[in-house]
Parts: sequence; C-alpha cells; structure tokens
Amino acid sequence: MYLLIPAAGSGRRMGSDRNKLLLPLLGQSVIAWTLLAAKQSTHIRWIGIVCQPHDWQDFKDIVADLGLSKMVHFIQGGSTRQESVYNGLKGLPAVADQVLIHDGARCLATPELFDRCAETLQTCKGLIAAVPVKDTIKVVNPANKIIESTPDRANLWAAQTPQGFVVEDLLRCHEEGIRQGWEVTDDAALFEQCGLPVQIVEGEETNLKVTTPVDLTIAEFILRQRSSANGSAKGEG
Ligand code: CTP
Ligand code: MG
Repeated sequence: MYLLIPAAGSGRRMGSDRNKLLLPLLGQSVIAWTLLAAKQSTHIRWIGIVCQPHDWQDFKDIVADLGLSKMVHFIQGGSTRQESVYNGLKGLPAVADQVLIHDGARCLATPELFDRCAETLQTCKGLIAAVPVKDTIKVVNPANKIIESTPDRANLWAAQTPQGFVVEDLLRCHEEGIRQGWEVTDDAALFEQCGLPVQIVEGEETNLKVTTPVDLTIAEFILRQRSSANGSAKGEG
C-alpha cells in the first residue's frame, strides 16, 4: 500500500514560527510519531511525504533518525492541503493503484488503523476513518448567530484520516475539483461531489489532529499513557 502524508502546512493555528509537525512531542517531533505508526503498519510499503522545500532538510533528518526501511519519497507541497494532495498523487509511482492519505498532524493514529483502512480498501473505491460525533451539532446562521437546525446526531460522524482511494478515481476527482473551483478540506469531499461512494471505517477516538497548543498537551498525555501501558504489559511477561 502507498501512503501519502500531507505535511506542507504552516501550522498557523498553533501560533508557532515553524511547521507544527516539527515541534517536539515527548522526545520526538510530531511528524516522527506519525511516521513511526506508518513504519509499524504491515500493509504500507511506500511513503510519500508532501512538504515545503524549506522543511525538507528537517524531515530528511527525522526520517534518517527513525531508520525507516520502507521507501520514503519527498514531494513538493502546494499552497493548500488540496493542492498538496494533488501534487502527492502526481508524485506516486505509475504502478500505484491504491493510496492512503494521512495528515502528518494526526500523529496518534495507530498501525492497526492504517492496516484496517488498507484492508477495507480491497472492497471499495473510497473510504475514510471516522468516529461518531459526541457533541450535539448546531447549524448556525453566520450573519446573526441564530441556530437554523440541529441535525440528528445518530447520522453524524467526525471525519479523520487515513482516507483511502483508487488512485485514478481520486485523480479524476481532483481534476474535476480544479475545473469547478471546489475548495475542500479533505479528499472524501471531492469523491462525494463527484457522486462516488465513500465508505466509513471505524476510526479512533485518540486519533486527534494536532491543531492548537492544547492538542499537543493532550497528545503528550495519550502517548505517556500508551508507553506506561506497554511498559506494564512487558513487565507482566
Ligand atoms: N497541509 C499540507 N499543505 C498545505 C496545508 C496543510 O500538506 N498547504 C497538511 C498539514 O501539514 C497537515 C494537514 O495538511 O498535516 C492538515 O492541515 P492542518 O491541520 O490545517 O495544518 P496546517 O495547515 O499546517 O495548520 P493551520 O491550518 O493552522 O495553518
Ligand atoms: Mg490548514
């Protein structure tokens, strides 16, 4: 399975002066945790990191430190996530017929989630990891901030990544998006707008996207929990 990691953002909402994926998180960088999960996935064999040229050297050093045995390629990012993914798709080897796309900022995704998505992609053309929404969501009029409606929560899912697709279908959807001027924040939205079905795969509650400083604090807490759980499991053995 081929994996593209959009990593070409600037992390504006993090308020940092550099790409948030290079910020430290429990002894590693944010992107290193993402890459470690990809490294442990049994299905992923090829990783394309989509990033800005000014971050290339830092990413290369991180990849070298992790000792990844999988093929790692660097592809130039664009000015939006959508453009970065499109560049990534064009940077895939010609033999790549299916692809998983996973945001570098979702650094807590587990190898099992990557593998579950890779396996489900054998039975459909498009999928996303998602979890049922826990909050009640309101649709609000932006002008006067009055609630317009309350969608039934039972039908609401929060989209995550990985998202997985047949490469030629997703490329076609991206090209249609460029022609039509669609601006989307995930790839499933392009598939949907082209009328193609997107399958939900059970995501993970801990698969948060590091967006603001509080997310780094929560991510560190979860990683500490995981490492102490692993430590006690080994101790029992
Ligand atoms: N991304 C990308 N290319 C861009 C913008 C974003 O590859 N031009 C990537 C980010 O690096 C991140 C993922 O898309 O891994 C999700 O984007 P987001 O969380 O919005 O990250 P940033 O755009 O960096 O953050 P912000 O929106 O706060 O600036
Ligand atoms: Mg962004």
